[in-house]
Amino acid sequence: MTDNKIKIYWEQFIRTGKVESDKVRSEIVASWQRCLHWGVDPGDGLGRDILKEPELTDRRKRCALLMEVARPYMLTLYQCVQGSGFMVVLADREGYLLDTCGDVEILEQATNQVRFVNGANWSEQAVGTNAIGTSLFLEKPIQISGAEHFCITHHNWTCSAAPIRDTDGNVIGCLNMSGPRHLVHSHTLGMIVAAVEAIENQLRKDRAQEEKKQAYKILETVTESMSEGLMALDYKGNIVHLNSAACRILGVSRDHALGQDYEKVLGKNDKIYEVIYKRQKYSDEEIIVHSSGKQVRCISSARPIVKEDGSFEGVVFTLREINKVHRLVHRIVGATARFTCADIIGDSDAIKGAKRSLMVAANSQSNVLLLGESGTGKELFAQAIHNHSNRRKGPFIAVNCGALPRELIQSELFGYNEGAFTGAKRGGNPGKFELANGGTIFLDEIGDMPMELQVNLLRVLQERRIVRLGGNDVIPLDVRVIAASNKNLYKEVEEGKFRTDLFYRLNVFTIHIPPLRERGNDIELLTLNLIDRFASQFNKVIKGVEPGFFEVIKNYSWPGNVRELQNVLEYVINVTEGNYLLIKDLPKGIFRHRRPVNRGVLVRPLHEIERDVVESALVQFNGNVTRAAEALGIGRNTLYYKLKKYNINFKC
Ligand SMILES: Nc1ncnc2c1ncn2[C@@H]1O[C@H](COP(=O)(O)OP(=O)(O)O)[C@@H](O)[C@H]1O
Ligand SMILES: [Mg+2]
Repeated sequence: MTDNKIKIYWEQFIRTGKVESDKVRSEIVASWQRCLHWGVDPGDGLGRDILKEPELTDRRKRCALLMEVARPYMLTLYQCVQGSGFMVVLADREGYLLDTCGDVEILEQATNQVRFVNGANWSEQAVGTNAIGTSLFLEKPIQISGAEHFCITHHNWTCSAAPIRDTDGNVIGCLNMSGPRHLVHSHTLGMIVAAVEAIENQLRKDRAQEEKKQAYKILETVTESMSEGLMALDYKGNIVHLNSAACRILGVSRDHALGQDYEKVLGKNDKIYEVIYKRQKYSDEEIIVHSSGKQVRCISSARPIVKEDGSFEGVVFTLREINKVHRLVHRIVGATARFTCADIIGDSDAIKGAKRSLMVAANSQSNVLLLGESGTGKELFAQAIHNHSNRRKGPFIAVNCGALPRELIQSELFGYNEGAFTGAKRGGNPGKFELANGGTIFLDEIGDMPMELQVNLLRVLQERRIVRLGGNDVIPLDVRVIAASNKNLYKEVEEGKFRTDLFYRLNVFTIHIPPLRERGNDIELLTLNLIDRFASQFNKVIKGVEPGFFEVIKNYSWPGNVRELQNVLEYVINVTEGNYLLIKDLPKGIFRHRRPVNRGVLVRPLHEIERDVVESALVQFNGNVTRAAEALGIGRNTLYYKLKKYNINFKC
């Protein structure tokens, strides 16, 4: 339809608010109706809502990506129509003009005639029906020419616009081309639609790129936050990625390592070789890497990286220093020392002297020998020495040499490698010395170590390194040794049951821990302390003890020392029904086993002595029949028989 005819319908609409709808495109009539409804003045159409600074700059900043992507396409479009009086315009979602390019004259004309300038609002509500406002409203491309515009000042123009959508499909702006009405051509809209498609494509690409970057950043943050070393190799074995932990473990800088053949950085390694050349993954294997002249023992896992088409891309593997793994395990399984000097209760000169020695020992690097009867607190002392030493952050590994089967001592202490003997675990096992590296090993009941193994121990103490059973690698050791014995080691040496050379190695710093009976008032102090502990443990309120209670306790000789006192009090507090501990609740053995002091030569019937010994053994071992029988040197059945015979009924 010619423009003149449209003009007639436009005038009719302006006059009556109605138009014969099949003569004018329905989108146009609908738009006119909206303009009427909004009260747009058809005689106006000048840009009146024009953003001032800094609002325009703010708005442009919010649309920076759109502007940046659209700019080259706007220029290309403009180059196609240069000199023909057309201009290309980018508007935002609300219809504010963000960017324009066009012939200088036409730009000036647009500015002067209708104030079509950057920052002007070109929505339908602001300036009536026009390609920018209407395409944004309808969210589809549209061309509007001459009298189709609602405002008369636009009747000399033709404009074509298409909305631009982001990757989520939301309209974020529109691209428009405007020019003199008589140059209207349907191809113009086609050009605009094609340019918008290209812009949208570019936005998608940028977004994908951005997402890729973001994903890489997340991955990098993840690998950087790992305490494990992580390394990736390409299919040729060149290092393509490594995290900071790997750099630290290997003592190399990233710049130095990247791009290098892994062998140059880690040394030769069968395991890694096999992943690359045989694509065999492995998990939690012990490997030794050689880096910057040092040897690092690590736990490592590796996986081949295989592309979707099945081709081999490379390897990714992790490294954890074995010392750290051990430390973690120790923390979890409790191979740490809990006690400090403050946990050692006692005011007697004897214990004070021992505690002073403890502090001196803690500050030295020497081996320590703790001598004292069973239950005097040797392990407590050992833990306290560790905790006051500069090794406190390292492991504390206690080994009861007396409890290890003879044939296992060697492998328990020094470890073994896979295949060292039948039954050896896959991957081998580190020994206690290796586990204690960087910390303290506590060799309890050292006096019970078989002579033929004492020589091995001596060698380790002298050389400060070990070789696992069935292994070749020499593992350097940095371990403080604290040994303990309740035997009189001097006597054992004299009798040829303990090696003299080992004794002297261990006997550098010896602490004698006094038995309880020589610690005067400590018994009462310990008793009060233990009452508190067990009362709260058993949820009981103990207000005090019956007069004479402490007399009885102090008169007993406590052959099992603090451990025995602990057991007795645990028992009494368990059985007591009131708030006061009664003498009658004490185990009977305590009354008979008076201290030998103040006593003349006393002859007692044998069966009475036997009864006492049996009972005291049970008290010492807290009612554990197996251990009591072992200590008495009789079988369990014999012990049961004697319990029955003497009517001993020890329950705990
Ligand atoms: N002076 C002390 N103060 C507090 N508790 C002690 C003291 N001496 C020993 N104990 C406790 O007695 C028990 C036996 O001590 P332990 O160190 O195992 O003795 P040992 O190794 O000499 O046989 C442990 O529960 C320990 O905490
Ligand atoms: Mg002990």
